[in-house]
Amino acid sequence: VTIHRGDYRPPEWQIPDIALDFELGIEATRVTAALSVVRAAAAPAPLLLRGDGLTPSAVRVDGAVWNDWRLEGSDLIVDLGDRQAATVEVDAVIDPSANTQLMGLYASNGMLCTQCEAEGFRRIAFHPDRPDVLSRYRVRMAGDKAAFPILLSNGNIIESGEGEGGTHWALWEDPWPKPSYLFALVAGDLVVNRDRFTTMSGRAVELGIWVRAGDLDRTHHAMTALKHSMKWDEEVYGREYDLDRFNIVAVSDFNMGAMENKGLNIFNTRYILADPDTATDADYDGVEGVVAHEYFHNWSGNRVTCRDWFQLSLKEGFTVYRDQSFSAAMGSAPVKRIEDVRVLRAAQFPEDAGPLAHPIRPDSYQEISNFYTATVYNKGAEVIRMMATLLGPERFRKGTDLYFARHDGEAATCEDFVRAMEEGGDIDLSQFRRWYEQAGTPKLHLALAQEGEDWFLDVTQTVPPTPGQDDKAPMMMPLRLAAFAMDGSGAALPDTLATLTDVVQRIPLGRFTARPALSVNRGFSAPVIVDYERAPGELAWLAAHDDDPFARYEALQQLMLDTLVAAVSGEAKGREAVIGAVAQTLTGAADDPAFVAEAVLLPSEAFIGDQMVTVDPDAIRRERLALQAAIGAALEREWRAILAQAAPPATDLTPAAKGRRRLRGVALAYLAASGKGDVPGLAFAIFSNADGMTERQAALATLAHGDSDERAHALDIFYQRYRDNPLVLDKWFQVQAWSQRADTVAAVAELARHADFTLANPNRVRALYGAFAGNQAAFHQADGAGYRLLADLVIALDPRNPQTAARMIPPLGRWKRFDEARQALMKAELERILAQPGLSRDVTEQASKSLMG
Ligand code: ARG
Ligand code: ZN
Repeated sequence: VTIHRGDYRPPEWQIPDIALDFELGIEATRVTAALSVVRAAAAPAPLLLRGDGLTPSAVRVDGAVWNDWRLEGSDLIVDLGDRQAATVEVDAVIDPSANTQLMGLYASNGMLCTQCEAEGFRRIAFHPDRPDVLSRYRVRMAGDKAAFPILLSNGNIIESGEGEGGTHWALWEDPWPKPSYLFALVAGDLVVNRDRFTTMSGRAVELGIWVRAGDLDRTHHAMTALKHSMKWDEEVYGREYDLDRFNIVAVSDFNMGAMENKGLNIFNTRYILADPDTATDADYDGVEGVVAHEYFHNWSGNRVTCRDWFQLSLKEGFTVYRDQSFSAAMGSAPVKRIEDVRVLRAAQFPEDAGPLAHPIRPDSYQEISNFYTATVYNKGAEVIRMMATLLGPERFRKGTDLYFARHDGEAATCEDFVRAMEEGGDIDLSQFRRWYEQAGTPKLHLALAQEGEDWFLDVTQTVPPTPGQDDKAPMMMPLRLAAFAMDGSGAALPDTLATLTDVVQRIPLGRFTARPALSVNRGFSAPVIVDYERAPGELAWLAAHDDDPFARYEALQQLMLDTLVAAVSGEAKGREAVIGAVAQTLTGAADDPAFVAEAVLLPSEAFIGDQMVTVDPDAIRRERLALQAAIGAALEREWRAILAQAAPPATDLTPAAKGRRRLRGVALAYLAASGKGDVPGLAFAIFSNADGMTERQAALATLAHGDSDERAHALDIFYQRYRDNPLVLDKWFQVQAWSQRADTVAAVAELARHADFTLANPNRVRALYGAFAGNQAAFHQADGAGYRLLADLVIALDPRNPQTAARMIPPLGRWKRFDEARQALMKAELERILAQPGLSRDVTEQASKSLMG
């Protein structure tokens, strides 16, 4: 069944209050849900309660047994006659231990926890389970005290006590009305890191991060991030926390990153636990960013929620933009922007260019879980960022203030957000709304024009056709640009913000005696592809002289990309310019090592492929390695100098220390590519002497590409040392799946049979298969073995965890981008998946859309 955005109808019943009663058990949990329903529709309509895998054992209305109900599929229809209000009570028993989907109430490592977004609540209790039905929840839970010493739910704890036979109970109440997807419950043997935060109006908030015994000393970074987030949201958005408690629980089996349940966030352990011995600097940043993201949802998501799931980007795009801005403020803003753009280009651009392309506000879906995408999240954040750029900080803040004030306590729409921006920012965003309607990455074709000494930039905008959207209209977008006279003479155009609205538009640049160097889409002001041919000399000049760090990065990346794309089609071009520009950039290494490390990194194989008409994975691998080797050899002295300096202590997590470690990792990779005989020994020494995971993992990853004795030795040491730490063991699987060795497909197949590999844990599945599917040359091995491996995984995982299985399909859906032989092999695997009996809705939707192309 396909759900359409235009079919939205307001709910016929509202549920102001809900009382839930849980008798907890790993194999059997009894749930009684008492819904106080009030009719919202003018005409009497039966009460539709969604269920998934539930069997009602009794239905009562206003306390009396009620027989006027029926099951329609898995939903419960209760006929309430012409009543205006009633209390509807339903009992059901569920088995959390059998819940391998990890949606609803499930068991993980002996504890019970929930994941309800988007439609998991219906696996716990019969309920309309739509985000525009908001209720106050009262949750009583009882269970064995030894098995579940800690009992948590949303809001405040009201009462607790002892029961019979070694049981105990707790009563929680959340005063803030919320949709069912924000409900949460946790019961288990947990320890807590406690802290306090005093809000701007003086409310004392008790903070708790709950983990399994033994993990407590890895929660400090998350706690610091939480307190910083609370402060930042007050200062930047004027948003204050609104309960006396804020709890976070870390769970090892989790489909996504984390979940913003009101007052009780539940996290994948990956985004909570960190210490220098087991977490890399990137892991630390991930913890900080996700803790902030979930905290920020308290306003952008919880206080103001979504009317329906088509509006998902309302909360996710905005919240990603908020967490990106927060991380930029905590560290280096240019480096954060470079990372965010890299993610957008790696994950969202291909999605926008493929069979699963959809606007940030989709028009239809079969399974909403398939729409937690890079488009809804990351392109959604870019759309918010463009509005912030168009409005400027003050007017943007006026707009968000208006949005929060106007919609507090409501289930809102993307349109509500844009309207608040329009009114608060005093701007007409009619055309800008197309960003919510049109899929596909716009392309800006640029050309310089000259009239005497007056120069102009001619911009032609096209938006490519996407499935179901053949004709596109031009988008409104902010384009930041500057122009420089490369010889130092003549006027320069300082940083300028142009607003594009038309298909063809001319922007005056000013007077120049010679062709100026153009710095365009500075800071990546619009999420577009810029098509503008520039000579290597101009790019190298910009890489050295542009005053916008992001634009410097872009210039060097473009220079590398042009060189690589030419090399793949057999044309030697620009290699000397690349080496010169990298050398020049490295002179800034002492001042800003993090930026330099990002800038000198070669574009990924996948991104090189994205520039080609037909992707040739083998030639891309070959030419990228060749350029890497050439840079490695030409600048050998520089790389060695970087590595000769002592690494900063792993406990030093300042941006400067992180930057130095990052640059050391890049230096080691370049040196290794150059093939110097002493590199495996050098890498092994770094691996062995490392006092933290950043250096250790970088050295291991470098070794993993080769076939030295040191490789096997290091992998073995790493495994023995960390076999009992699941998050670190994930890295062991991951570095092998990333390997550039020719036997990687076979190695991944072998690792899938390893005793420590399991389909039960999504992190482990992603560590092996997610990393493998991102290893372009290995995944696209010409005989199709990589495709078969991934399809086998999807088929094996689907019956157990359809949501995570469906997330593995998009790499197979990119078949149009490859040669005919690969196309046939990829399509055959999609067809094989679709031929499986009893396939989930999740996988069916992704595989069938992928096949259609
Ligand atoms: N709202 C969560 C977040 O972004 C993600 C939850 C997604 N859950 C799901 N089952 N798709 O922070
Ligand atoms: Zn989110």
